[in-house]
Formats: sequence, structure tokens, C-alpha cells
Amino acid sequence: MEIPKAPKIFWGKTRDGESVDLHALTNSKGSEARIATYGGVVVSLKVPDRSGRMGDVVAGFNDLESYLKPPPYFGAIIGRYGNRIGKARFSLDGGEYTLAKNDGENSLHGGNRGFDKRVWTARSLSSQTLELSYLSRDGEEGYPGNLWATVTYTLTDANEFMIEYFATTDKDTVINLTNHTYFNLAGDGDILGQRVVINADWFTPVDEGLIPTGELRSVAATPFDFRTATSIGQRIDQNDQQLIFGHGYDHNWVLNRSGSGLETAAKVLDPKSGRVIEVLTTEPGLQFYTGNFLDGTLAGKGRVYTRRSAFCMETQHFPDSPNKPSFPSTLLKRGAEYRTTTVYRFSTI
Ligand code: BGC
Repeated sequence: MEIPKAPKIFWGKTRDGESVDLHALTNSKGSEARIATYGGVVVSLKVPDRSGRMGDVVAGFNDLESYLKPPPYFGAIIGRYGNRIGKARFSLDGGEYTLAKNDGENSLHGGNRGFDKRVWTARSLSSQTLELSYLSRDGEEGYPGNLWATVTYTLTDANEFMIEYFATTDKDTVINLTNHTYFNLAGDGDILGQRVVINADWFTPVDEGLIPTGELRSVAATPFDFRTATSIGQRIDQNDQQLIFGHGYDHNWVLNRSGSGLETAAKVLDPKSGRVIEVLTTEPGLQFYTGNFLDGTLAGKGRVYTRRSAFCMETQHFPDSPNKPSFPSTLLKRGAEYRTTTVYRFSTI
């Protein structure tokens, strides 16, 4: 029997005239994800609330044009390097590499035209799995080596949205892929009442440019302690230097890990809808970002994206790792394989 493919539609063209498609993944529970080949963007993700009503839990837009403007990485694959590289440079194998300064003095999310602004080649593996590939050429955005990247999205029958990342290179390089979906488990409104658990005893404090200082700091007795469920809004406006630098939460937590497999990183629960998201990953870090820079100027899918109306749970290596030898390494050796997996598992209470 032939495996049914994910339905797709032509969505529009980029400014360079490249065609962009929108693919729909569905599962036996009636959940649905829509993925654009532009940026590998998760455009919508509909999962049930406690009464079985479907709701779209991610920020985004109905039209391609809004993504070309561009919004702050809504739903996109981030590469080659998720989050910041300090002073937009690093050295590797005796060479110095200079990146785009697109965030003050630093480089953010892969530079001026990162993976979020590229059209990926799609291959539908089934109605539940879509594979996206992109070849990033040697020197693109300043990074060394041709990099062959593949990201696979799967919507399982257990209401899990799984992302598998794979890459290889022909020269030593650095890599830190993630996904920048903004979630709101209620669909709409602010996220301040949603309750978070992060499985981490430590986080990486930052300077005012949001570059980690290199210190690992205990979360104990700080607003960064999410080891027991705490609402996002409970401490977000405390007079804490780290919260002031981040304008709220915009930090990397050092995940407690016991091995190298998929382990629980975080959990968020929305008391109103009853929706729960559990984040599992093979990665050592989690950037928890509370949409502090959303300011109500963007609107889409019938919603206005006001400050703190969505959160990101970006599973990744730590920011600025290429310049922080004490952090887990983001080096990808020539010919080596990069493989990471993250699962966003939805349920209700
Ligand atoms: C960063 C934020 C940034 C946001 C959107 C997050 O990953 O940590 O500082 O504003 O992405 O660009």
C-alpha cells in the first residue's frame, strides 16, 4: 500500500521568485501542523484542549508575505547558530571567522540571512512526516564549510510534535540548530498565568548584550528556579539584574541530564484550557524566552502579538559556545554527523 503523502499547496513566492509550499501534517487524533518550506516555519499547530476542542497554539500568520517582512523568527528553523555569538566572531582550527553583527555587536540566529530566511527542499515521507533539506554553502553568513542540513518534522498519534535535526560538513565548523516556535497554550491572550517547570539546577547568566558571562549560576533562591511549577508572571518583573538584562526571561538553562538520550527539559501547563506541553530533548540547554520584545505591532491569524503573548522553548547548545571553551562544544568536525532530537508532547489535565 502506498503511504499517503502530506497534502501541500503552493503558498506564494519569495522576493527572489522562489516558490514556497505549505504542507499539512495530520494524525489520528485530529491534530494538525502546517509547515512552510520558507524557513521550515511551523505556521500553525492545532491540538485539543481538555474538552477536546482544537486550538492553534503557535504564533504566526496566514500569509507568506507577513513572514517575508520578517517577523521575529516566528516558527522558524534557526541556523547555523541558534542564539548569539559574542562580538560576531570566533576562531577555529587557527582561522578567524567574522559574522554579521545583526544584534548590536553580536551575531544572532545565524546572521542576516540565516536558515529561517531560506527556502528548504521538502520531501513528504508520509501524512505525518515531512523532511526538509538545505545546503548551506561554504562561507555562507561567514561560517566555514558546506553544510548539508536536514530537519524532519513528525506529528505522532500521541500528539507529539517531533523535530529531528541532522547535518554533515566538509570542513570543521560550528553548528547549533533549533526551532523558534512561539507557543501560547491558550491560543490567545498573555502567557503570564501559564505554569512552567524547567528541569535545571543551573542557568548561564548574561551581560547586557545577552552574551553569557561563562558562569554557571545556581537557580536556587533566584527567579530562575522553575524546578517546581511556577507561573511565568509570578517573578518576571522582579528587580533582578538578569531579568532586567533580558527584559524578562531570555536565558539559557543548563538542563539536568543523566545520559545522552531524550530527556524531559521542561513542561508548561495552561490552567484555563488544560493544555500541557512537555519538552524532551537530547540537547544540553534550553533558551526560555517570554516574548519580551513583542510589542503589539504584529498581528496574524486573528490575534495581536502583544508583549509576553507567547513563549519559546528553544532546545540547543548554550549561546556563544564557540567562544566559551568551558561550555559543551558546538564544533562539528569534517565528515562527522550532527544529530539532535526534540519532542514537544501535548496532553491535557
Ligand atoms: C533570543 C531573544 C530574541 C528572540 C527573537 C530569542 O532566541 O534569545 O533575545 O529577541 O529570539 O529574536
